[in-house]
Amino acid sequence: MRILITNIGELTTNDPAPAVGEPDRSVGATGDRCGTRHDAAVLIEGDRIAWVGAAADADGVVERAKRDETSHADELTVVDAAGRAVIPGFVDSHSHLVFGGDRAAEFEARMQGQKYAAGGIRSTVAATRAASDDELRARLRGFLDEMLAQGTTTVEIKSGYGLDVATEERLVRLAAEVTPEVTFLGAHVVPAEYADRGDDYVDLVTGEMLDACAPHAKWIDVFCETGAFTVPQSRRVLEAGIARGLQPRVHASQLGPGEGVQLAVDLGAASIDHGTYLTDDDVTALAGSDTVLTLLPGVEFSTRQPYPDARRLIDAGVTVAIACDTNPGSSFTSSMPFCIAVAVRDMRMTVAEAIHAATAGGAAALRRTDIGRIAPGMRADLVLLKSPSRVHLAYRPGVPLVDAVWKDGVRAV
Ligand code: NIG
Ligand code: FE
Repeated sequence: MRILITNIGELTTNDPAPAVGEPDRSVGATGDRCGTRHDAAVLIEGDRIAWVGAAADADGVVERAKRDETSHADELTVVDAAGRAVIPGFVDSHSHLVFGGDRAAEFEARMQGQKYAAGGIRSTVAATRAASDDELRARLRGFLDEMLAQGTTTVEIKSGYGLDVATEERLVRLAAEVTPEVTFLGAHVVPAEYADRGDDYVDLVTGEMLDACAPHAKWIDVFCETGAFTVPQSRRVLEAGIARGLQPRVHASQLGPGEGVQLAVDLGAASIDHGTYLTDDDVTALAGSDTVLTLLPGVEFSTRQPYPDARRLIDAGVTVAIACDTNPGSSFTSSMPFCIAVAVRDMRMTVAEAIHAATAGGAAALRRTDIGRIAPGMRADLVLLKSPSRVHLAYRPGVPLVDAVWKDGVRAV
C-alpha cells in the first residue's frame, strides 16, 4: 500500500537535512528547526515514510515506482493537500489516562480561589480501585480517540491511581494494551492507608508492586515533591526501577523548587516533567544533560500557577517537549493544539519551537528515534491540517484544525 500526499503548502519535517540537489529551507524566518518545505510531497510505503520532496518531483517518483517490478504502484492512493499544512503526528509524552471518576468539583473550587495540592490524587484512587477493567478500558479508549482526532499519534501512559499492588498491576496492564510507552508510577502519592508511613510505602513500591508492574512497563516515574516523595525516597524508587530494566523519568518542581531536577539529571532520566519552579542551577544542569524538560501548559492553566519561562530554557540550550498531562486533577485537556497555543501565548515560545517540542521534543522525551519527524525511514505518522500553515494552531486556539491523521501509514482520522 502506497499513499502519496501532494500539493502540501507547508510541510514541517523536523528534518534539517535538505535532500540532495534541493535548496536548504530548513531554517525559517524564526531560525526554527522545523525543516520546513513548501510545495512538497510525501510518499508513504507500508508503515513508513519512503520519500519526501518537491511536489513537482512527485510524478517522477511515482513513475519510477511503477517501473519497479517489486512495487505495487497500482495500489497508490493520491491525497491532494490543496496547499494546506502537514506536520508530524503529535507525541504526547506525559499522560495519566487510566482512572475512574473525575474531579470537576475540585476544579470549580480552584477557579474560585482554592489551591491545587498533591493530596487530591487520593480521591481519584478510590474511584479507580472501584472501577472494573472494562470500565477503565472503555474510558481509556475514549481518551485515545479524542487525542487521535486532535492529531496525537503516540501517547505515553502512566499508572498511579491504584497505589496498591493489584490495582497498579491492572493500570499498567491496561495501558500496555494500547501503547508501548507505559510508565509505572506507583510512587505518585502515599496512599491513605500508609499515612505517616511513607518509607513503608516505598518498600512496597520497590518490592512487590515493582515485581507485579515491571513486566508491563518501559518507564519508572516518581512524584518528587513536597506532599508526595522526598528526594531520598524518589532515588530509591528510581534506582529500584532501573535495576529491573525500567528507564527513569521524574515529576518534579511542580509546586515549588526542589532537588528533583538534579536527581533526574544524576540518574540520566529521559525527562523531568513540569519544571514550573526551576532554579538557575536546574537550568544549567539540564542544559548540559540528555534529560528533556517536558513542559505541561495545561497544568499551569488549570491550576492557576505561574507559567515557566520556556524562552529562558531554550535560550540556555535545554531540550524541551510539550505534553498534555491529561489527568482528572491538574490538567484535564487531551488537546496538544491547545497546549501549543498556551505555550506560545504564555511561555514565550515561537510557534515553530512549540510544534517542534510537541513532536520531535516528545520523541526525545521518550528516547524514540522512529517518530517525531517526517523523513525517509520514519514511521508514517502525519497530520494534515485544515489551515495553510502550522501557525494557525496557536493563532486559532480552540478551533478543530485537524483534517486527516495517518498513524503507521494507515488513515486513522
Ligand atoms: O502530573 N503531579 C502529579 N501528578 C499529576 C496530577 C495528578 C492529580 O492531581 O490527580 C500531574 O500533574
Ligand atoms: Fe503527571
